[in-house]
Amino acid sequence: MKILVTGGAGFIGGNFAHLMVNQYPEDDIVVLDALTYAGNLETLEPIMDKPNFKFVKGNICDRDFVDELFKNEKFDVVVNFAAESHVDRSIENPEIFLETNIMGVQVLMDACRKYGIQRYHQVSTDEVYGDLPLDRPDLLFHEDTPIHTSSPYSASKASADLLVMAYHRTYGLPVTISRCSNNYGPYHFPEKLIPLVISRALAEESIPVYGEGANVRDWLYVRDHCTAIDLIIRKGKDGEVYNIGGHNEKSNLEVVKTILKQLGKSEDLITYVKDRPGHDLRYAMDPEKIETELGWEPEYRFEEGIKVTIQWYLDHKDWWQHIVNGEYQDYYEKMYKNREL
Ligand code: NAD
Ligand code: TYD
Repeated sequence: MKILVTGGAGFIGGNFAHLMVNQYPEDDIVVLDALTYAGNLETLEPIMDKPNFKFVKGNICDRDFVDELFKNEKFDVVVNFAAESHVDRSIENPEIFLETNIMGVQVLMDACRKYGIQRYHQVSTDEVYGDLPLDRPDLLFHEDTPIHTSSPYSASKASADLLVMAYHRTYGLPVTISRCSNNYGPYHFPEKLIPLVISRALAEESIPVYGEGANVRDWLYVRDHCTAIDLIIRKGKDGEVYNIGGHNEKSNLEVVKTILKQLGKSEDLITYVKDRPGHDLRYAMDPEKIETELGWEPEYRFEEGIKVTIQWYLDHKDWWQHIVNGEYQDYYEKMYKNREL
């Protein structure tokens, strides 16, 4: 099988590319990534020279480029991770979110229609369901929970989901969608809560907590998200949505305190800052469908996954310090100026 992984130089797409390349030597994995501020080729370094891997730099919104790529490569499966992914950035500047997260999806699906495909898989998010109240722990998101978004980011992801379903119904495109809860783990860009807390705590810098830190997220170790997507592209049914989550709900303050404790750092580093506008209160997934229909099971509970993650950040200081000091953006130039892609 030839699999296109878009956004594979980012956090989850990078972890997915590692998993695919190592687990399926008989498959060819092509990563397409525009290398925006969130894309980092150092994430792909461990698999860069594997015979079943190829990296291509390009933008999913560039119709001519995508058309040419599909014509030459003849992909069997497309897994679309490429997106603008940070809620706070979407509040500052929504436009690029609409371009990449909606128009880019259209461009990819048009190429899938034109050149034929076994499956287009859209990586979506629990944020398309909006939020749940803090005082109703009995409520969870199900696949048929109405779409109800809060931020420009979640609105753009929800729009893409609707478009994907429209392409399935109207043109018969074989599609699946997965909606996952918050991920954490190796190669997570340090603007997001968990890697931000780890990197700042190690530097004895203040830890910004929005509002009172009471908002709840349902945390999933990134590898468990990747194994779920792997199952969906191989065994999932066309036209279906699958929720992914591991029942690991934690308030932001709990997450921050757990990390500080494990690093032996003082809670005095916590600094309460102005809340995010429109801040979703609580996300919580019901993953029963993927568990019963596809037999997916997460391997990590939060308590264990966070320890593994902290250890990874301690063992890979170069990776995140290059991001913090901006060096990672020179990497492409350095590694690729004399190397044809
Ligand atoms: P990320 O920001 O770490 O990575 C996104 C990648 O996409 C980057 O490598 C970036 O360079 C690339 N990219 C951006 N615009 C592009 C474009 N126009 N063309 C080609 N490449 C482009 O994001 P992530 O956290 O890895 O998220 C991946 C996907 O998973 C996103 O679709 C996101 O909505 C979804 N998701 C994320 C989470 C989470 O907790 N991070 C949870 C559920 C779903
Ligand atoms: P984030 O990692 O940005 O993911 P998302 O907004 O997609 O859930 O944020 C996770 C939670 O942590 C969210 O409730 C916002 C909060 N947060 C902080 O309190 N401080 C921070 O510096 C960041 C980045 C997030």
